Amino acid sequence: MERNGTERTTAGEHTGGCPAVDLFSADFTADPWPAFARLQHTSPVHHDPTTGLWLVSRHRDVRRILLDPERFRPDNTLDAVARMSIPALRHLAAAGFALPPTLANNGTDRHPGLRSLVSGLLSGARVTAAAPLVERLTHRHLDAVEAELAAHGHCDLVTTLTRDLPFTVMLDILGLRADVDADTGVDLTTLARWNDASLELFWGLPPRARQPGLARLAADFFTWLGGLADRAAPGGPGLLGLLAAHRHPDGTPLGRQEIVAVCYFMIIAGQATTGQMLATMLQRALHDTALWPRLGTEPGLAQAWAEEMLRREPPLTAWRRVTAAPVRIGGTALPAGAPLLLMLAATGSDPRVFDAPHALRPGRPRARDHLSFGIGRHRCPGAALARMEARVVLRTVSHRCPTLRPARPAAEEPLLGLLSFRAPMQVMVRPGGDRGGDGG
Ligand code: HEM
Repeated sequence: MERNGTERTTAGEHTGGCPAVDLFSADFTADPWPAFARLQHTSPVHHDPTTGLWLVSRHRDVRRILLDPERFRPDNTLDAVARMSIPALRHLAAAGFALPPTLANNGTDRHPGLRSLVSGLLSGARVTAAAPLVERLTHRHLDAVEAELAAHGHCDLVTTLTRDLPFTVMLDILGLRADVDADTGVDLTTLARWNDASLELFWGLPPRARQPGLARLAADFFTWLGGLADRAAPGGPGLLGLLAAHRHPDGTPLGRQEIVAVCYFMIIAGQATTGQMLATMLQRALHDTALWPRLGTEPGLAQAWAEEMLRREPPLTAWRRVTAAPVRIGGTALPAGAPLLLMLAATGSDPRVFDAPHALRPGRPRARDHLSFGIGRHRCPGAALARMEARVVLRTVSHRCPTLRPARPAAEEPLLGLLSFRAPMQVMVRPGGDRGGDGG
């Protein structure tokens, strides 16, 4: 992985008269919407000197870019934002860490074949078949939530529910569930630590002193996946069997690094985004005490409300592209090789598309026209799975625990704020049944 191609610009900055946006500040993470509105209004294609990225914030521009993969390539989607320190790079190199073009970062003719492999595993029929598992798992996690509430009077829904549930579902769908448990030495807690470290290392700005520790965890993840790849055989079960049997358009099989890279991306894409989505949704829904009990009883409400949350507050807030040739976007001329940050979360609150975007209105017109799952050639193939998990988890938790309450104001929950990911890192709850203390 390399840092973004464009170096920090010091002179001739194109800010379009828009005050600077600090993408990594606590203020922006806590409340990004004023900055989104400012950018859309005054500087819809805005150069950010900290990252070297061009921020594209209007729905129309982002949509057009995603639908034009020849002129806007996905090659930089998995590049590290921070310049990596030498000790960190050494850890990665020792594990043979590399992310060759496979799925999200692949603009070559090898992409459609690989995409159809994972799309098959995530088909509508498979998602429907997985719904009972999601419901069973939600109840199992709620047993743990209730036990903790009884013992301590409070409980964090991230560690007891939203982190592990999407892991188990995704490992099941990919056929990797038997490879992850206490007996194999790699359990869900280990995987979560590896995932979190990878997100921070590649989508955060970790201080240099912190990078080697993160890199070592990402390298351990890679080494473990390498062991799985070595056992992959054509005709074998799940994703690994499919990858081992796959041939590129020129007839060549996948290399070991490609197999590992697909698995690495799938595990992060399948768990991190969905776990973050569930944490955000549960937090917001619990703070709306009138809405919360209705999610479990009113047909269709959980699904429609989840869609609004995906529009307004998606877990994957921004995604990258790079221009293949000189191009104009929203009146701004960009050279070839300009790295873009498509602000997906901003597009879901673009008033040109969504009337009163701050209001959560389940079933609003054009409810699914948001770009939170992308659009076009690389559109998220896990969208149906994520939507099903949102619907089933919200409905089940609300139905079983209609009086559950937040244990503190939302503003006091720690927030993850990376270039592309945003979600509460804790969702503390307490038993309900009384009034007061619901927080804000
Ligand atoms: C709320 C949860 C999720 C969100 C918000 C999300 C969002 C996205 C976005 C924005 C993209 C990039 C689209 C583009 O470049 O045009 C993407 C790609 C992708 N996502 Fe998701 N995703 C989620 C869940 C999942 C799940 C559960 C899986 C799999 C188990 C998954 C697998 C993938 C894959 C494989 C790609 C790359 C597709 C390609 O390049 O062809 N995602 N996702």
